[in-house]
Amino acid sequence: MNITATTGHRNVSILGIGAYRPKRVVTNDEVCETLDSSDEWIFERSGIRSRRWISGDETARSMAVAAADRAITNSGIDRSDIGALILATGSWKTKIPHGGPVVALDLGINGIPAFDVASGCGGFGYGLGLATDMIRSGSAEHVLVIGVETMSVVMDPTDRDTAFIFGDGAGAVVVGPSEENGISPTVWGSDGENSDAISQNYDIPEYMNRAEEFQSKDPETDPIGRMVVEMQGSRVFRWAAITLPKALGKVLEQSGVPKEDVEIFIPHQANARINTLMKANLGLPDDVPVANDIETTGNTSAASIPLAIEEMLVSGKAKGGQTALLLGFGAGLSYAGQVVTLPPAPIEASF
Ligand code: UT7
Repeated sequence: MNITATTGHRNVSILGIGAYRPKRVVTNDEVCETLDSSDEWIFERSGIRSRRWISGDETARSMAVAAADRAITNSGIDRSDIGALILATGSWKTKIPHGGPVVALDLGINGIPAFDVASGCGGFGYGLGLATDMIRSGSAEHVLVIGVETMSVVMDPTDRDTAFIFGDGAGAVVVGPSEENGISPTVWGSDGENSDAISQNYDIPEYMNRAEEFQSKDPETDPIGRMVVEMQGSRVFRWAAITLPKALGKVLEQSGVPKEDVEIFIPHQANARINTLMKANLGLPDDVPVANDIETTGNTSAASIPLAIEEMLVSGKAKGGQTALLLGFGAGLSYAGQVVTLPPAPIEASF
């Protein structure tokens, strides 16, 4: 029996990026109306000054579609050329049905393979790795990878471990064939032994047009019951300090790019202190910019890396064509990293 095997394109790149930031800006002082904390403590420990939370009719679905629409426009490809959609998310409100197919429907590309990837805050890195390998193996020509989260409605607003850290948003990239290769092999891994360090209790409720209610309700008197993410922050911090430097070293090794040639460092926006430590550990030169979108966007889990890439390109801190080191990490616990060539600065931006 001679069964057909496909091969695709060896050289693959991020062709375009798009993002969506919710309209509502929430300062540390506003978070502290419910949380026993302070603006100073939050900024000093996490690097966050404000975050965006959904309001009104904003949902994970609407944000994913808006970010993906911009990524398609900015990539310059026709949407009918997209062969698959990967949605990285941990806070999508249903597991059945998963989100990918309705996002494809709203984008006007119903019918393509569209599926979700759940790998916590590392989810975008997993999606990008899968997309690249799908194009290299010939299962799709262009793949849309979207990271989206509505963390604000799955938090306990009085929980000192989570309520100040998470934000909402969406970021997306179009991945496709290119003349020169722009995405390294993915270095990824997981640690089930520490999986209970970031967890959830029960189901995600309907929150459409009710986001503020979920973001401010006292869970003690909450009659609805809802999913709440729980995180043992300092345990995750310790795990990150041990695991991530090794992962970063391996990403560079497998990419063949010497660390002197890394021009931009874009880690998951979990905590500005973790990112500064990682940069120092790796010995990246002082003048290499490190993404710091966390300051005004918070930790948006699977959406944080594309949001941070977009912020750097729009603000001019990074330029299209530069070599960037990416590393996502979080629930699982898990991580995924790549060296990539940055796409052009977006024409349609999120701010
Ligand atoms: O995105 C997925 C991956 N997630 C991460 O990578 C998160 C990693 N972890 C973190 O970012 C940090 O652990 C946090 C920012 C969540 C917390 O910072 P920390 O420096 O680890 O704080 P801590 O839990 O060690 O607490 C330090 C002190 C304690 O007081 P004492 O014992 O030193 O007197 C806490 O009681 O700060 C106190 N504290 C707070 N104070 C004000 C803990 N949480 C708060 C709070 N506000 N929210």
